[in-house]
Amino acid sequence: MLHLVCFALIALANAFANPGPCIGDCWTHDPGLYQRKSDGRYFRFATGGGVRLSSAPTITGPWKAVGDVLPGGSKIDHVGSDNLWAPDVHYQDNTKKYYMYYSVSELGKKNSVIGVASSDTMAPGSWTDHGSIGLDTANNPPYNTIDANWIRIDGTPYLNWGSFWQNLFQARMENPLKISGDAPRQIAFNGTLNHRIEAAFEFQHGNYYYLTFSSGIGGNYDVTLPAQGMEYSIRVCRSEGGKGNFVDKAGRSCLESGGTTLLASHGNVYAPGGQGIVQDKILGLVLYYHYADKNKGLAKSQYQFGWNRLNWVDGWPTV
Ligand SMILES: *[C@@H]1O[C@H](CO)[C@@H](O)[C@H](O)[C@H]1NC(C)=O
Repeated sequence: MLHLVCFALIALANAFANPGPCIGDCWTHDPGLYQRKSDGRYFRFATGGGVRLSSAPTITGPWKAVGDVLPGGSKIDHVGSDNLWAPDVHYQDNTKKYYMYYSVSELGKKNSVIGVASSDTMAPGSWTDHGSIGLDTANNPPYNTIDANWIRIDGTPYLNWGSFWQNLFQARMENPLKISGDAPRQIAFNGTLNHRIEAAFEFQHGNYYYLTFSSGIGGNYDVTLPAQGMEYSIRVCRSEGGKGNFVDKAGRSCLESGGTTLLASHGNVYAPGGQGIVQDKILGLVLYYHYADKNKGLAKSQYQFGWNRLNWVDGWPTV
């Protein structure tokens, strides 16, 4: 009986909202989303044989594919420099520029470099490549160097990155184009199975910094369907300082496999992940992600752009 009650509570807690509407070009994979300061126009960056760019007047669309960010690839001399991944975009007031971090990597290998490009407008054709930020796996560090995520903490810029291996790390940025020499800190680790967490995205709200990540198996689910519950889901941890000591809602350390589920498969929504948070001028904090729509198909080429406004309960975000 107690088990039944527990099940009912879990079912209730997992009643996720469906994604908000999307009109037009709604394909995406590992999206990065940013609203332009000047006119509020949205730009959506995605991984798909390079960094693909789409644009829309509002988050609901109509979305239009507008081109590639660095169509010629990166100037970094490394395998994968013609196939950039995992875009992360932010704006800096001091330089009045947008910066996009990207990964150059050999799929599934710890053989990677993080690079950066900048632009005044985010529009295609406006991006200048600056190459490596000085973060790579050449000396066989404990981490992989993909999935960059920039964040300002107490006025100081930091970068989160990682994925698989020893999972998520953080270090201070010297400037937007260069990582500092400070020793990287591990900020999240799932000790079980293959350490399947990736795609850090951190943001601030109220008195806390929130660290979101994708947990589980991502990929072409039309080729291999993971056991139920092992597919991608979006997790969240929080910390007061933003630089470590992240815990989940149950108080479990996120260095010890903690991480509260923010969004998981439900209804036709399968394996949401590759998430980020954007501050919409009207809606406030919005979670965005990719997911497979069971009605449309499970391949990466069929992934859909999802978004939900965040609600807050006892200092924790919910969807
Ligand atoms: C950690 O990994 C295990 C095994 O893959 C998984 O069941 C669990 O949900 C993961 N937890 C987090 C917070 O990623």
